[in-house]
Amino acid sequence: MPFQIPRGTQDVLPGETEKWQHVEQVVRSLCGRYGYEEIRTPIFEHTELFLRGVGDTTDIVQKEMYTFEDKGGRALTLRPEGTAPVARAFVEHKLYGSPNQPVKLYYTGPMFRYERPESGRFRQFVQFGVEVLGSSDPAVDAEVIALAMHIYNELGLQHIRLVINSLGDLDSRRAHREALVRHFESRIHELCEDCQARLQTNPLRILDCKKDRGHELMATAPSILDYLNDESRAYFEKVKHYLAVLDIPFVVDSRLVRGLDYYNHTTFEIMSDLEGFGAGATLCGGGRYNGLVQEIGGPETPGIGFALSIERLLAALEAEGGELPVRRGLDCYVVAVGEQAKTEAVRLVYELRRAGLRVDQDYLGRKMKAQLKAADRLGASFVVMIGDEELESGAATVKDMASGEQMKVPFGELAHVLAKRTGREE
Ligand code: HAM
Repeated sequence: MPFQIPRGTQDVLPGETEKWQHVEQVVRSLCGRYGYEEIRTPIFEHTELFLRGVGDTTDIVQKEMYTFEDKGGRALTLRPEGTAPVARAFVEHKLYGSPNQPVKLYYTGPMFRYERPESGRFRQFVQFGVEVLGSSDPAVDAEVIALAMHIYNELGLQHIRLVINSLGDLDSRRAHREALVRHFESRIHELCEDCQARLQTNPLRILDCKKDRGHELMATAPSILDYLNDESRAYFEKVKHYLAVLDIPFVVDSRLVRGLDYYNHTTFEIMSDLEGFGAGATLCGGGRYNGLVQEIGGPETPGIGFALSIERLLAALEAEGGELPVRRGLDCYVVAVGEQAKTEAVRLVYELRRAGLRVDQDYLGRKMKAQLKAADRLGASFVVMIGDEELESGAATVKDMASGEQMKVPFGELAHVLAKRTGREE
């Protein structure tokens, strides 16, 4: 084979793309209901944005970024995530000055991470995400989580679990950080090199280490929840209260630290409960990031959001045996026999398409029988047949493929009759 797709990427072929479109449409429509508007940012950004935004001690920044120098000598990076770019756009376009606060945004598009590919883990994957900037109301945390859950519910996923945690404010994190250093310090040599390097720079990251996940020191590490100050605890209680009001079940896991540095207060993940999912089990992740906008040069602005990948969502749906209501197939296939009929077919197909129908015709010079077979394969609901007799009488033969019923319909009435019969009538 001359060329193969790059490792960790995938082609989405017809048959699958309809599912993607369906998911995208559901997500867009739900965002509309919740009052979120779409933002589109570039696929690459200045590398510095992610160093500052995502954090230079994270795996994403240290190991996974697709970074390159362009011909002008600029250091650029294919975006590994969408939050830092949205925060950059928020600052650059001064959206903090907009009269509509908080600013509620959503985005969808490819993200790139140089990760070890396995099931559910790609090097290019499509994230859908939302970000709310400008409010530190815990009801917003609940809204954002509710929207994520709503998406999975709407698409029919049953076996999901919401896990939440709080990383507290700066003070709480500082106290926890000191406790972590004390906990790991004397035995840090038992952990991997990355953990050793992170002991002083960012000990919270040690809890997120993929290599040492099973080490005894991880299980006994001090819990952030024991270090929350009164304010942070009260905030977390409010978030839980609102989730209870919304009847959204959750479990609290104090070890949920997330892989990006910008988080404080609420963090959450939605996992698939089905077995055998491995890396793909985390369907969605998010949390609050009250310091990010300031970190990248904007005014102090609280923020919260989440992102989910469509690849993992579809894999979870498939594993659960869920069917998406996707519609493939044509409304009508026009079968023509003879040169004159062919000309009429070319005209008619265009007319029917303009009337809103999904229509196709033969382009391979096939005989009538083969054209009928093609119509069947393409899932056409109706076949319109045109031959000498039809041309002479001015009425086409229309066959309802489901019932086998045949009728004559004058050419001028075809668009109307077919639109009515297929439910595509305006
Ligand atoms: P994240 O946890 O890095 O968070 O990614 C969010 C989601 O993206 C994951 O839960 C997973 O569904 C998907 N994902 C991540 N990496 C891969 C991969 N290699 N292959 C397939 N899917 C993947 C963020 O990206 C944050 N920006 C989320 C956020 C938004 N926090 C606040 N606002």
